[in-house]
Amino acid sequence: MEATEQLTTIEQYATQQLAADKSGHGLDHINRVVTNAKMLLAEEPSADYVLTLAAAYLHDVIDDKLVDDVPDAEQHVIDLLKSVEMPEAKIETIMLIIKNMSFSKTLTDDQQPLPLEGQIVQDSDRLDAIGAIGITRAIYYGGHHSEKIYDPQIAPRKHMTKEEYRNLNNETIINHFYEKLLKLAEQMNTPVAQRIAKKRQQTMLDFLDAFKGEWNGMR
Ligand code: ADP
Ligand code: NI
Repeated sequence: MEATEQLTTIEQYATQQLAADKSGHGLDHINRVVTNAKMLLAEEPSADYVLTLAAAYLHDVIDDKLVDDVPDAEQHVIDLLKSVEMPEAKIETIMLIIKNMSFSKTLTDDQQPLPLEGQIVQDSDRLDAIGAIGITRAIYYGGHHSEKIYDPQIAPRKHMTKEEYRNLNNETIINHFYEKLLKLAEQMNTPVAQRIAKKRQQTMLDFLDAFKGEWNGMR
């Protein structure tokens, strides 16, 4: 099967799986991650283009936040990739990438190292979690999960396990910046993503500064 046809089929699958999402992992997020991945791919000519974009489209469809039965969702992705005649070795790489790239996975001790293609998708996903879009997604996600906006009495958590990260009791939207979003810039893999992340980091720092100033009634 031709590469464009493979990617169209994979895109349609992701569309179908994520269309109903209201937690900030919907199609708009996937499309931005794919756009970011194309931009990073242009700077990393040795990366496998189709494999990278396939992983970008599929990176959220096996997420334990979004699906009840993770092994079942993984099997569906494998079946999809077989149906578009993706070679066995590439299917294995795509599965490795989408199982190991998330921030929550970095909080566990069984994370596998990512190949270049996975590093690109991880950077693409992380770029969409920071900056102006990142601010908007954090507020959207926090509202969806009934988090408080801010509470100066609640300190940001340090050294969370994955379970603690997912436990939203006492979580605030502002603390999420200190617990995760401000850490992402220094974790970027590729030089281009590192450069873009610096600017987006400053956007978040300026926002937090303005937010706290206004909170404290500064004029
Ligand atoms: P990953 O899939 O990499 O483990 P998440 O799914 O937890 O990461 O995060 C996806 C998006 O949801 C992030 O961009 C972030 O803005 C938002 N998010 C996750 N947890 C929270 C939270 N507790 N409060 C606000 N936003 C959150
Ligand atoms: Ni994502």
